[in-house]
Amino acid sequence: MSEAIIQTRQLSKEYVRDEFRVMALDEVDIDIEKGDFVALMGPSGSGKSTLLHLIAAMDRATSGSISVLGANLRTFTDREIAHWRNEHIGFIFQSFNLIPVLTALENVELPLKLTNLSKKERLEHSATALKLVGLDDRMGHMPKQLSGGQEQRVAIARAIVTDPDLILADEPTGNLDATSAEDVLTMLTRLNREFGKTVVMVTHDPHAAKFARTIRHLEKGKLLPPGRLPADWAGAIALRT
Ligand SMILES: Nc1ncnc2c1ncn2[C@@H]1O[C@H](COP(=O)(O)OP(=O)(O)O)[C@@H](O)[C@H]1O
Ligand SMILES: [Mg+2]
Repeated sequence: MSEAIIQTRQLSKEYVRDEFRVMALDEVDIDIEKGDFVALMGPSGSGKSTLLHLIAAMDRATSGSISVLGANLRTFTDREIAHWRNEHIGFIFQSFNLIPVLTALENVELPLKLTNLSKKERLEHSATALKLVGLDDRMGHMPKQLSGGQEQRVAIARAIVTDPDLILADEPTGNLDATSAEDVLTMLTRLNREFGKTVVMVTHDPHAAKFARTIRHLEKGKLLPPGRLPADWAGAIALRT
């Protein structure tokens, strides 16, 4: 575990809206190693989602450098980025983001439609991914016929169906009850340990963060040094013991 799969240097993102400027990310240097499971923590508005979106190439930086899986994201065209993301990144959202008019199987199949696989192969891969998250008996269900926990498991299947190296999750347990949250965290852990996926998970839940190998904190757009916890952070003591 010594190869940096994600590396940023002085990475900044400034949002400008009317006359207001927000430094959402302020000169962030981070190295994330292949095979790591990183929890990205910090208060609301500290830039966690912004950093995750930059890593996923869902947004562009204002300045600095960002390299993900050896690719210099700032040099990509929008078209190149869409293909690169589809191939290499699995993204899991807090609110699942399933397409309501598609079945579980069709939702999982979506990322494969951008590949050269045949329909038969696409359905086989999608069924395998759904089986992996324990939902092989729900393939024909529509999202509204599923519980929140099941919806998020479909979203995880969709995130892994292309066999990406990197899984990014933004508050994946934020909308779930405790039991479903535990299932999702166990699944992410399994993807990391058994399947060797590198996982970066944004969370503000100290319990969720305990599943990670590495915990990093953002505060007002700045990344705190490794191992440093915010002085006023109540969860800090619980995590150290
Ligand atoms: N699209 C946007 N336009 C303007 N400001 C934004 C936008 N997205 C995020 N911000 C601002 O950037 C800061 C960081 O946001 P975000 O990364 O979403 O924080 P977090 O995920 O830690 O809650 C916040 O002040 C937020 O209001
Ligand atoms: Mg956020």
